[in-house]
Amino acid sequence: QGCKLIGCGSAVPDLLVSNDDLANIVNTSDEWISVRTGIRNRRILSGKDSLTGLAAAAAKNALQMAKVEPDDVDLVLMCTSTPEDLFGSAPQIQRALGCTRNPLAYDITAACSGFILGLISAACHIRGGGFKNVLVIGADSLSRHVDWTDRSTCILFGDAAGAVVVQDIIRIACMNTADMNADECFYVGNLFSGLTDAMLLSKGKLQYLACDGNEDGLFSFDLHSDGDGQRHLNASIKEGEPHDGLGSNGSVVGFPPRRAAYSFIEMNGKEVFRFAVRCVPQSIESALEKASLTSSNIDWLLLHQANQRIIDAVATRLDVPPERVISNLADYGNTSAASIPLALDEAVRSGKVQSGHIIAAAGFGAGVTWGSAIMRW
Ligand code: ACO
Repeated sequence: QGCKLIGCGSAVPDLLVSNDDLANIVNTSDEWISVRTGIRNRRILSGKDSLTGLAAAAAKNALQMAKVEPDDVDLVLMCTSTPEDLFGSAPQIQRALGCTRNPLAYDITAACSGFILGLISAACHIRGGGFKNVLVIGADSLSRHVDWTDRSTCILFGDAAGAVVVQDIIRIACMNTADMNADECFYVGNLFSGLTDAMLLSKGKLQYLACDGNEDGLFSFDLHSDGDGQRHLNASIKEGEPHDGLGSNGSVVGFPPRRAAYSFIEMNGKEVFRFAVRCVPQSIESALEKASLTSSNIDWLLLHQANQRIIDAVATRLDVPPERVISNLADYGNTSAASIPLALDEAVRSGKVQSGHIIAAAGFGAGVTWGSAIMRW
C-alpha cells in the first residue's frame, strides 16, 4: 500500500527581526551573520501569538491545498521540540482545526529531524495501520529557548510552522474514479502481486482496481541517531529551585522535589557543522540507493535549513548543482522542525516544485538525529 503527498502549507509570525536588529542587542553584524550562515531575517513569535495557533494555520493551508476536510483527517502528527504543553500539543491542534471525528493526535520530538521522522511515521501508519489522511506538522519556536545575550546562538533561529497531508494512494484512486463511491472501497492487502491493489464494491458489482505502484510518493528513507552527539547541542533540564512552600529541605514529603527548568540552547557550532556535513550526504546516498536512484535522478535537494554553508557543502558532495537546491534560509533562519515543510510549501506555491518532481529531503539536528526521505511531489 502506498502513500502520496497531496498538500502543503505554512505559517510564520508577523514579527520580522533582521540581522541589523540583532546587532542592536549583541555584538554582531549583518555581514558576519550573512557570510557565516546565509541568514538575513527571521520571524519571531511575540505577544499573544502561540505556536499551536501557527501550527493550526499551516495545517489549514495544507488541508485546503489537499482538498481534504478536517473531519477526514484520521491522524495528526505534531513534530516539535518546543510544545506549549509539556504533555504535547497535537490534540490541541486537532481541536483547533475542527477535526471532530476524533482522529489520533500525538507529538514527535526530534528537533530539526522531526519533520522527516513525522513523514516516515505517517507512511508507516498508512502502510501498516489503515490510516487514510495523515497531517504531518513541523513547528518550533526556538526563540523561546535561546539566550538573547549569546551571539553564537541567538542569530541562528527563527519560529515557523509547516505542514503536509499524506494520503493513502488507494483512496486517491477511488476518489479519481468518478462513478465510484470511496466509502464502498475496501482494501484487500497483498492479495494480488502489487501492494497497492484494491477491490471496489460499486453499485453492487465487485471490481478490481490496480493502482499504479509508481504513484507511491515515498520511495525510501534512512534514519539515524547518536546520543553521544548530545553534548554538542542541547537544552538540558537543570536542577531547579525547590517547590514553593516546601522549605529548603522539603520536609513536608521527606525529599526535596524541584521545579523543572531547561537551560538555554547550548551548542558547539563547529562540531554540529562537522556532523551535518559528514552524516547528511551519507544518509541521502543510502536512501537513494534503496530507491535504486542516484543524485542525478532528483529534481530537488531539500535540506533542513540550518546554515547555507552546510547546504552548499552537502550539495557539492552529492554533485547537485545550485539550481536544484531549495533554500529559503535567508528569510527565516533555522526554524527547526518547520524548516523543510516551510521551504517545500514556498517552492510548491511558487511553481518551482511541480507534480511528479522527485525530492531528496534530509533533516539533522539535536539528539543528535538525522535522516533522509526520497519522495515524489
Ligand atoms: N557575530 C560576530 N562574531 C561572532 C558571532 C556573531 N554572531 N558568533 C560567534 N562569533 C565569533 C566567535 O566569538 C569567534 O571569535 P574568536 O575567534 O575571537 O573566538 C569567531 O566569531 C568564530 O566563531 P566560531 O564559532 O568558530 O564560528 P564558525 O565559523 O564556526 O560559525 C556558526 C559559527 C555559524 C554557529 C557555525 O559553526 C554553524 O553554523 N554551525 C552549525 C550550527 C547549526 O546548524 N546548528 C543548528 C543545528 S539544528 C538543531 O537541531 C537546533
